[in-house]
Amino acid sequence: MMDSADLYQTIPTRELSDGTALPVIGLGTFSPDDTDVTAMVASGIDNGYRLIDTALRYENEPEVGAAIAASDVDRNDILITTKIPGRLQGYDGAIESARTSMANLGVDHIDLLLIHWPLPRLDKYVDTWRAMIDMRRDGLVTSIGVCNFEPAHLDRISGETGVMPVVNQIEMHPFFPQRKLREFHARNGIATEAWSPFGRGSAIMECEPVTSAATAHNVSPGQVIIRWHHQLDAVPLPKSAHSERQRENRDIFGFALTDEEMAAISALERGRIQDQDPNTYEEF
Ligand SMILES: NC(=O)c1ccc[n+]([C@@H]2O[C@H](COP(=O)([O-])OP(=O)(O)OC[C@H]3O[C@@H](n4cnc5c(N)ncnc54)[C@H](OP(=O)(O)O)[C@@H]3O)[C@@H](O)[C@H]2O)c1
Repeated sequence: MMDSADLYQTIPTRELSDGTALPVIGLGTFSPDDTDVTAMVASGIDNGYRLIDTALRYENEPEVGAAIAASDVDRNDILITTKIPGRLQGYDGAIESARTSMANLGVDHIDLLLIHWPLPRLDKYVDTWRAMIDMRRDGLVTSIGVCNFEPAHLDRISGETGVMPVVNQIEMHPFFPQRKLREFHARNGIATEAWSPFGRGSAIMECEPVTSAATAHNVSPGQVIIRWHHQLDAVPLPKSAHSERQRENRDIFGFALTDEEMAAISALERGRIQDQDPNTYEEF
């Protein structure tokens, strides 16, 4: 296992197709309860997280920005991700969304800007994407990507603009391992980020292949799941409001799951946790 001195070093990075160094684990910030998001993000930064995942729709950007501003860590060493909500899709809306996020966060550029959901019924995601390409050209945004895009959506934006997203952030956990979509990403140079990496408080942590691997490697079930994501080349975004769990969730570099353990965990597949099919799911 990793010793405590290593634990407090920052999380390693991987290179995106646009050259950006993306930490291989990020901190989720969506908190439907009354979590103190500023305290949660401050503690995440102290625990070595440098990729912070928020969204205009989470209504927590001011709290995320306050934690980053108050931190001793240089703003340029933290990669902030935020997202364009459905209500602001379209060319002008996308620019308004990014500007609102920057004001909320108190920053002058966004490191990674994503489309939150494709919302195919609206048919605005190509125009949204064109605005993001222009914002990247103008230096408002460093990297551009999407969430919850299916291969048809990805093919369409790259076909119409010539630009593939560098990231697709998708629902992924042992109940929904997304093998085919990950293979599409690999063929197209797209990094997979995993939202709800634990299945958001579902029963995954109590499932046998996870608990037996935890016992075998003397780690927690949560660490087994984060390691499973890492070995599948995905970037998990675990959310925890607890400092101890934040440390646990990033302390996964001192053990490796065997091929058999990986296969047994992937065999837990049963589907999405909340039936959020990107072809039909809508949120604004
Ligand atoms: N792009 C999208 O459409 C989309 C959709 C959903 C989520 N997301 C992003 O993905 C992030 C993560 O997803 P999520 O928040 O839905 O779910 P998650 O990270 O899978 O699960 C969070 C839950 O797991 C608990 N937890 C964390 N670490 C644990 C550990 N080591 N042991 C036991 N329990 C642990 C947390 O409790 P405590 O906080 O009490 O520790 C919390 O209840 C979000 O915060 C958000 O940033 C994106």
